[in-house]
Amino acid sequence: MVGFPSILEGIKDLDKGHILQLLERAEDLKSGSPARLPLQKSLAVATSFLEHSTRTKHSFAMAIKRLGGFHIDFQAENSSLKKGESLEQTLLTLKYQGIDICIIRTQQSHLLEEFKGHPPIKIINGGDGSNQHPTQALLDLYTFCDDFGGIKKLEGKKITIVGDCRHSRVTHSLIDLLPMFGIELALCGPDEFMPQEIAPGIKRIVDIDTAIQESDALYLLRIQSERHNSTHADILNDYHTHWGINFDKFRKHKKALPIYHPGPANIGVEVHEEIMDSEIWKAHKQVENSVYMRMAIIEAMINNEDHHIGHANKKVTGDICEGKSQHDI
Ligand code: NCD
Repeated sequence: MVGFPSILEGIKDLDKGHILQLLERAEDLKSGSPARLPLQKSLAVATSFLEHSTRTKHSFAMAIKRLGGFHIDFQAENSSLKKGESLEQTLLTLKYQGIDICIIRTQQSHLLEEFKGHPPIKIINGGDGSNQHPTQALLDLYTFCDDFGGIKKLEGKKITIVGDCRHSRVTHSLIDLLPMFGIELALCGPDEFMPQEIAPGIKRIVDIDTAIQESDALYLLRIQSERHNSTHADILNDYHTHWGINFDKFRKHKKALPIYHPGPANIGVEVHEEIMDSEIWKAHKQVENSVYMRMAIIEAMINNEDHHIGHANKKVTGDICEGKSQHDI
């Protein structure tokens, strides 16, 4: 895919053309199309999850395997990062060992920004703090296409994200992605969980009843307590009553909506178990589709050869070069 970035840090690294091609390719792969990768060697990926993960980590592992590649699980705790080696040198080491792409999840927002001008290796962001989670947003868009009958049908659809939007990297990526395709995005939840500034064009809905009435789909979030500065005990205690989704709330409006969730879901908090046992619960489909979207992303990144990857190879000039061969230096 022409011009596909060597570092996928956030949705803004992609243009609409890239995204449309990813959607098409994910669908092809789901229909059984074989991987399109260079044949000289098998795909080698390092996964480095410096924060807990079930879905993202294993979905990448499945995607790599289905592309005919293999992955090495890089354990930061047991690595030379603990001996003071920089992340850049660590990534360069992986590159020279033959790793093609490194998938990184970290608690630190914006950690990957420093590599943007001179990528030590191809990198996919598997979620950085509360900043971005681009592959989740892309697989969500793919799932919406699946459920609503294609990308064109999404134009004008109203999707409301309910919950802890402020601390959610998934929300930040969805805010960048969904309006590009005409989706009318709204945020709903307690004031404390709303972003300090809401991007232009994104609506704020103040209560769950209005969200149910006005939306075509709801996207629920887990409360991201690990990123909170204060406990928010008052909100958490009766969260389900005010913001949680159950069939009683739908009955009131004589309406049920498809419910999406990036997982992990906390039963009895943002969602009642009865919803998760029903056909309106779309989270399993998101998980299933995640493998194909991540296959498409890896394939696109591998196929876009970038000759600037690796060490900057700065020229050594001046006194230290005089009278010495390259090998002496
Ligand atoms: C999310 C994450 O880790 O950002 N989950 C995921 O990747 N599927 C959401 C969350 O942790 O709440």
